Amino acid sequence: MNPVDDRTFVNPLVKALHRHTDRLADSIPGPRTHDGHQRRQRIAAAWVYLSAIVAWAEDHHLIDVTLHAGLRDVPARYTTGTARPVVALAQAMGNLTVHPATQWLMHPAYNTDLHEGTPSDDAVQALADWWAADAPSLAYEVTAEPPSISGWLIGDLLQTITDERRKGFALAQTPWWICDFLLDRTLIPACAEFRTQRLIRTIDPTAGTGHMLIRAMDYLWEWYTTGTLRPRQAVGGPAATGGTRIDPQHALPRVVASVDGIEIDPLTAAVARLRCTVYAAHLAHQAGYATGPLRLDTIPRDLIPRVGVADSLLLGKVDRATYASTHPHLADLPGASFTGDDWDHTRPTAASPAALCLAAPQQLDLFDGIAA
Ligand SMILES: C[S@@+](CC[C@H](N)C(=O)[O-])C[C@H]1O[C@@H](n2cnc3c(N)ncnc32)[C@H](O)[C@@H]1O
Repeated sequence: MNPVDDRTFVNPLVKALHRHTDRLADSIPGPRTHDGHQRRQRIAAAWVYLSAIVAWAEDHHLIDVTLHAGLRDVPARYTTGTARPVVALAQAMGNLTVHPATQWLMHPAYNTDLHEGTPSDDAVQALADWWAADAPSLAYEVTAEPPSISGWLIGDLLQTITDERRKGFALAQTPWWICDFLLDRTLIPACAEFRTQRLIRTIDPTAGTGHMLIRAMDYLWEWYTTGTLRPRQAVGGPAATGGTRIDPQHALPRVVASVDGIEIDPLTAAVARLRCTVYAAHLAHQAGYATGPLRLDTIPRDLIPRVGVADSLLLGKVDRATYASTHPHLADLPGASFTGDDWDHTRPTAASPAALCLAAPQQLDLFDGIAA
């Protein structure tokens, strides 16, 4: 059993997160109209959702623990003294953005709702107290794939906590065993047929938070490091054999270069980027060639998953002007492609706690290090 499939684990968690979303929403200033209510709920959901990612990252020691310590006695990063709860939470969220691939989680163009309002200190403290004392650990043992470090749960939580996104973009993600079944029937025959190829290229053109990408990475890791790939769900089906075995250090860039994703919703893509970055680093750690603890700030900064933000139905099919008129918010989105020179993160000027805690701007060049 995997906790992501266990309603007795997931349902109480989701219920508690909805309760905190309501409480945060009530505390956000704004008109008490129907539209105002919807807006405050969206903002609150953005805060609560990122708090869940922080909790997951803290539970896996990817970042320092502050949320699970109830956000108490956190030194303020930009002023003197102790940070107010809402600032401490924003700082904890900022810890997620230290890697070039994960910087987008708080970017105003990716996570617009987060920047549209600020919940009260009391509501945030109650949320932090719940994470510290009552919430289940988001690092859990599994008896069936995928492990909690894959971020499967936080991927699923996006669709359950931010309802708007689920309704607007049909974000309903594939359970892991169906992903595996599909890969058994597609990727394994592809590996068998193209066993002599250096790269087996795959794409999920509607990537969501990366469920298929993560499983494809896992399969391809096995293929590149062992030269063999056996079905995991379609048991009894043919295996791929006879691939060239390569050492883990050289396998990792191949895995990353073999898995492409496109996702139309920026925040959803940002979550996929986080998960794929961490999972790739996890594979290296598991194989024992990466030393030291697995932390977001020590993952090689040129490990950038190939997750683009775009409308995959239009990309390459219409001219730039048509694309821009159809999707004005995507046409100029910073970092929409993963390949390079537009990964220039300009710090917003708004003095909101969320804006203050964004990580320093980075520019990156895929696989070739970072230009300052
Ligand atoms: C049903 S989910 C599937 C997610 C993932 N492939 C999985 O199997 O778990 C569909 C995803 O496609 C995205 N999407 C919808 N239309 C799209 C388009 N035209 N281009 C890119 N992504 C799109 C949605 O935002 C959503 O995240």
